[in-house]
Amino acid sequence: MTKDDHMAFEAALSARAEQVEALLRRLLGTPRLAGEISRPERLLAAMRHGVLNGGKRLRPFLVLESAALFSADGDAALRVAAALECVHCYSLIHDDLPAMDDDDLRRGQPTVHRAFDEAAAILAGDALLTLAFDILADEATPLPAERRAALVLMLARAAGLGGMAGGQMLDLDAGRNRPDEAGIITLQAMKTGALIRFACEAGAVLAGAPAAECERLAEFGSAIGLAFQLADDLLDLTADAGTLGKATGKDAAAGKATLVALHGERWARKQLDGLVGQASALLEPFGERAALLRAAASFIATRDS
Ligand code: IPE
Ligand code: IPE
Ligand code: MG
Ligand code: MG
Ligand code: MG
Repeated sequence: MTKDDHMAFEAALSARAEQVEALLRRLLGTPRLAGEISRPERLLAAMRHGVLNGGKRLRPFLVLESAALFSADGDAALRVAAALECVHCYSLIHDDLPAMDDDDLRRGQPTVHRAFDEAAAILAGDALLTLAFDILADEATPLPAERRAALVLMLARAAGLGGMAGGQMLDLDAGRNRPDEAGIITLQAMKTGALIRFACEAGAVLAGAPAAECERLAEFGSAIGLAFQLADDLLDLTADAGTLGKATGKDAAAGKATLVALHGERWARKQLDGLVGQASALLEPFGERAALLRAAASFIATRDS
C-alpha cells in the first residue's frame, strides 16, 4: 500500500467513524422508542460507556464501504453498520468480564464492569445485543422488509452459537482442550471472523447485490477476519498497553490458544501477508472502486492499535 493509499484510508475511516458515532449517540439517547416503558438511566449510561468510547469502528467501515461498492442507500448502510457495532461492543463488554478475560482497560478507559459494576455490564451487553436487532428490524431502516429480515437472520447466525458466542466458548475452553492449528482457526473464524465476515457480506446484501458478489464479499471478510485476530494476538505479544488502549501480554499468561503461541511471531507475520494478498485478490474484479477495502485489509495487518 502506498503512503497516499494509507492516508486516504485513515481519512475515510475517521469520516465513517464520525457518521456512525452520530447515529449511535442518537440511538443511545434518552427518548423512548414506541413500546419501550422507560430507559433506566444507569443502564443507558453503562451502554453509552461501552459504545461511545472511541473504538476504531472498523466493522462499520467495512459495512459502509462494501455497501458503497454496489451504490447502496447510505442511510440503510449506516443503520446496519450501527447495529453491527452494537453487537461488537456488547461482545467486548462481556469479553472483559471477570468470568471471561477479566480486563480493567478497554479503549484506554476502565471497562464497563469497572466503571459501573458486573450486573450493569452484563445487562448493558444484553441490551446492546437486543438493540442491534431492533435497529435492523425497524422500518426506520429504509430497506424492503424481506431484506431487513435477511439481515436479521445473517446477524443472528454470525453472533450466536455457531458464530461469535460459540467462538468465545471455544476460546475459553481452549486452555483445557488444547486445539490444534485447525481448531484454533475454527475458533478464531467464529469469535472474531464471523462478525467481520458479516460486515462485508451485509454491505453487499443490503445493497441487493447478486448472490455471487455477496459471496465474494463474504470470502473477503473471512480472510481479513482471520488476519484481524492474528494481528490482535501479535499486538498482545508486542504492543504496549498505552498505544493499544487495553492490557497486553495477557494471552501468553492465560495460556490462550493462538496461532502466535503455536507457530511464533515470524510465521504469524508471513501468514498475515498471505491473508492480505488473498483478500486483495478477491476484490480484483472491482478494480479501483475497491481501493479503500483493499487498504482496510493492509491496515488490519499492520495496525498498531
Ligand atoms: C477487538 O476488536 C476485539 C477483537 C475481535 C480482537 P477491535 O480491535 O476492532 O476493537 P475496537 O472496536 O477498535 O476497540
Ligand atoms: C475477543 O478476542 C473476541 C471477541 C469476540 C470480543 P480477545 O479477547 O483477544 O479480544 P481483546 O484482545 O480482549 O480485545
Ligand atoms: Mg477473549
Ligand atoms: Mg479479551
Ligand atoms: Mg486479544
